[in-house]
Amino acid sequence: MDLFDVYPLNDITIVKAAGSYVWDDKGEKYLDLYGGHAVISIGHTHPHYVQRLKDQLNKVGFYSNSIKIPLQVELAAKLGHVSGKEDYHLFLCNSGAEANENAFKLASFYNGRKKIIAFKKAFHGRTSLAVAATDNPNIVAPVNQTNNVIFLPFNDESALEDAFTQHEISSVIIEGIQGVGGINVAADSFLQKIRSLCDQYNAVYIADSVQCGHGRTGKFYSHDHSSVNADIYTMAKGMGNGFPVAGIAIAPKFKPVYGMLGTTFGGNHLACAAALAVLEVMEQDKLMDNAAAIGGYLITELKKLPKIKEVRGRGLMIGIELPDELKDVKKNLLFKHKIFTGEAKPNVIRLLPALNITKEEADMFLKAFKLEAGIE
Ligand SMILES: Cc1ncc(COP(=O)(O)O)c(C=O)c1O
Repeated sequence: MDLFDVYPLNDITIVKAAGSYVWDDKGEKYLDLYGGHAVISIGHTHPHYVQRLKDQLNKVGFYSNSIKIPLQVELAAKLGHVSGKEDYHLFLCNSGAEANENAFKLASFYNGRKKIIAFKKAFHGRTSLAVAATDNPNIVAPVNQTNNVIFLPFNDESALEDAFTQHEISSVIIEGIQGVGGINVAADSFLQKIRSLCDQYNAVYIADSVQCGHGRTGKFYSHDHSSVNADIYTMAKGMGNGFPVAGIAIAPKFKPVYGMLGTTFGGNHLACAAALAVLEVMEQDKLMDNAAAIGGYLITELKKLPKIKEVRGRGLMIGIELPDELKDVKKNLLFKHKIFTGEAKPNVIRLLPALNITKEEADMFLKAFKLEAGIE
């Protein structure tokens, strides 16, 4: 059997990884500022993470949600503490799309409505409603099409107000910083406006924090920069440092009912061990402070450079928009300088490194970037 060929691949096979580095099968070492798409939060093969997973695997790897799993309770308490949302409740699942799917569902159960507001350039996943709320017709199959999703321009307060007066809105979903869309930061006032309209109309504010959450921006949720509380935070990527685990943090006003949400694998023993290890390392090594410091440094240095169209982002979620003549910089960083970065169309380099990246590693990137961009 061959693989179903849906991914355009780089001709690289990674066989070893540690911290912010990966090695290929030829022994070549790469600096990883992509983290497998914002997934590697505490660095590859972090010793505490590896040990916690090994220990857990030797005890019990999996059992379903038909028995008590104290690790889930421990994880909820830790997440509440580290994120500052102690009074929220946690539902565990397996991927970012599934987290968003559950958030839409919960919102609709809560207020009995159907309409969802999403924004231009949003990406929320590839399952049924998540993909319907994603602004990319190429990945929406006919069966996913629905008239329940209303797309509005990002950061446009009056369009938002109009939509609330014209429709019965169930929920508004927004990435605090759009990732796939090219690192677009939601304005503080825009998020505050979403909050007040949701309050006024009893709609649900869903903060898709799958990419911009888990400390990446220097605060646990990127929405924290704007001093707003969402009703539901969805999370995945950095949550398990590579172990597939996701969740939704749910405000206290939502009341659970048996059977309302569910999943076979969600919150299994190994997934909880991975998510706990991530939070323990984040807390102990003060990784949110590091994300703010190194991210701030990178953004400041990049903003000084000529030729670049725009530098956007917060903390370690950075977009560098390049003019057309520099469109090969990303490819050259990878193949000439052995540095992984992410991308977004058109011509945006995305930096999504581990939260414990060092200043030396940031400088390695800056040096190679300037060389490739023909600066200095
Ligand atoms: C903001 C955002 N939401 C949701 C998803 C979907 O996550 P997953 O691929 O785990 O389903 C992604 C993935 O890139 C994302 O960036």
